[in-house]
Amino acid sequence: MDNVTDEIKSRLDIVEVIQEYLPQLKQAGANWKTLCPFHNEKSPSFTVSREKQIWHCFGCSEGGDIFSFVMKMEGVEFVDALRILAKKANVILKKQDQQLTNQRARLLDICQLSANFYHQILIKMPSGEIARKYFTKRKISSPTAKDFQLGFAPDSWENLTNFLLSKGFKENEIVESGMAIKSANLFAKNKSLTFFQKKVRDKIYDRFRNRLMFPICDVHENVIGFSGRILEDKKDEAKYINTPQTLIYNKSQVLYGLNKAKQEIRKENLAVMVEGNMDVISSHQAGIKNVIACSGTALTLEQIKLLKRYSFNLALAFDIDPAGQKATKRGIDNAWQQEMNIKIIKLPEGKDPDECIKKDANVWQKAIKDSQSIMEYYFDSVFLNSDLSKVENKKSAAKILLPIISKLTNKIEQAHWLQKLGEFLNIDEQILRDSIIKKNASFNSRSIIKEKNDSLIDKQVSLVDGQNLLLEEKIIGMIFKFHKNLKKIILEFPLNILQNKKLSELAKNFIKDYIKNEEKFTEDKWIKSISKEMTDYFNTLIFTTEKDFSDFDSSIEYEIQKNINILKKNKKKNLKK
Ligand code: UTP
Ligand code: MN
Repeated sequence: MDNVTDEIKSRLDIVEVIQEYLPQLKQAGANWKTLCPFHNEKSPSFTVSREKQIWHCFGCSEGGDIFSFVMKMEGVEFVDALRILAKKANVILKKQDQQLTNQRARLLDICQLSANFYHQILIKMPSGEIARKYFTKRKISSPTAKDFQLGFAPDSWENLTNFLLSKGFKENEIVESGMAIKSANLFAKNKSLTFFQKKVRDKIYDRFRNRLMFPICDVHENVIGFSGRILEDKKDEAKYINTPQTLIYNKSQVLYGLNKAKQEIRKENLAVMVEGNMDVISSHQAGIKNVIACSGTALTLEQIKLLKRYSFNLALAFDIDPAGQKATKRGIDNAWQQEMNIKIIKLPEGKDPDECIKKDANVWQKAIKDSQSIMEYYFDSVFLNSDLSKVENKKSAAKILLPIISKLTNKIEQAHWLQKLGEFLNIDEQILRDSIIKKNASFNSRSIIKEKNDSLIDKQVSLVDGQNLLLEEKIIGMIFKFHKNLKKIILEFPLNILQNKKLSELAKNFIKDYIKNEEKFTEDKWIKSISKEMTDYFNTLIFTTEKDFSDFDSSIEYEIQKNINILKKNKKKNLKK
């Protein structure tokens, strides 16, 4: 076969590849069907033909072959889809196929080489002795260290950098991969530099020094970044430092250990989420492998989407507080609203999974087995130590639990928990139900934004179709809220589709400032430059978006683009009229 894409296609089956992303893909007659991942729908119109090795969605009219599917699903360019599928098909790409000039590919190479470099130091160099001792102390075996490509970055400013330079990588590539830092960044603000500072100004130096290295991989086993742990905990230094956002690493899109856990998660139909890297490694070493880490941050929608490829069941092994406004809780609520089943794993007092496993892996295994549904957990934590003879306590219990129950999308489940709550509080269930309905009505974001802004909106705007106004506000609200990740959308935003004068003025002002300042744009600075009235409007939009945010089950970019398209269509219709 002369063409590498044909070779890959001949070795892979489109149904199997798509099933890895969409486990719900089921045979229906001659074809295979499931809900389309590229638009929101209630009944499946996403269709795959095994015979023709193509896919098509009758809902959104997207379609193509195995390559276009991976490109869309992963949000990557053709060369990256080629790499991903070549790996699956066991096809080795020639240099010209890989187009090694491709920047992503080069950054991936840098990360993989760095992982090897650090690993070699850990396993056999004299400078790795201290790290070998550390891992021995923490009972990490050599096979485990190899499996997770663990490594050690010695206490040096240029060890890795020099190695990468010797492999032919350029300084700017090494910086862009996150492995090195340009020292110019340190001095940029100082006008008067010492001789020494001038001399080193243009140098680059290793980001990770004297740290245990944990490579972070995507689900295709590519190393995309690192977490580096300090050897001894110190007060004035971060315990972990991580690769910053790069072209290939976005922390909100990865879950530590998923590359190793994905098969097991599918097999067990359960993902166990822990907080730390060490917890993941310990658990895998103990043979419990459906375990991943959120790495100390809140669960994002992207991560939830990723997890849903493997299972809809998620068990969490860390503290969550039903009354808390903590980010963790928000992440969990997100997952919940994405119709994942959430369970809570309870560990013996004050222990993290790593400590628990080191003492007795069976305790960990049993804790997973005995995990509780999240609602039971919330009920327990609210009622267990509460004296319900006091009205005060009843009130505060209802205040915590009602909003949670009201968010349940499954009405049968909702009824069940309302009834339970009624029993606990000795209050008629109907009263609780009414209060949910009332709450939902008063919190309906759409009505709030309309009320609040009627006074702000020019008379002219009242002529605009109300529905379009809401759409416009929704789009701009999303842009305001998520602007950090929306560079492309913002740069290309068609301002002329906005008819609401006030909104258009605000958006224009924002985008102008954003483009002018590029990377240096900050919301705080910009806010200071606009009027009080505009600031209020801005805040209302952000608030509304936050309320609505949990409703999206697709990416923000997709959601915005979709709404822009609807708005454009509506405008055309109006013109015709
Ligand atoms: P932990 O402090 O629980 O770390 O933070 P750990 O993984 O259990 O490590 P050991 O057992 O003390 O060695 C949980 C996770 O939060 C992230 C890391 O990903 C860590 O694994 N974290 C923590 C950071 O990113 N930066 C920090 O400074 C601390
Ligand atoms: Mn720990």
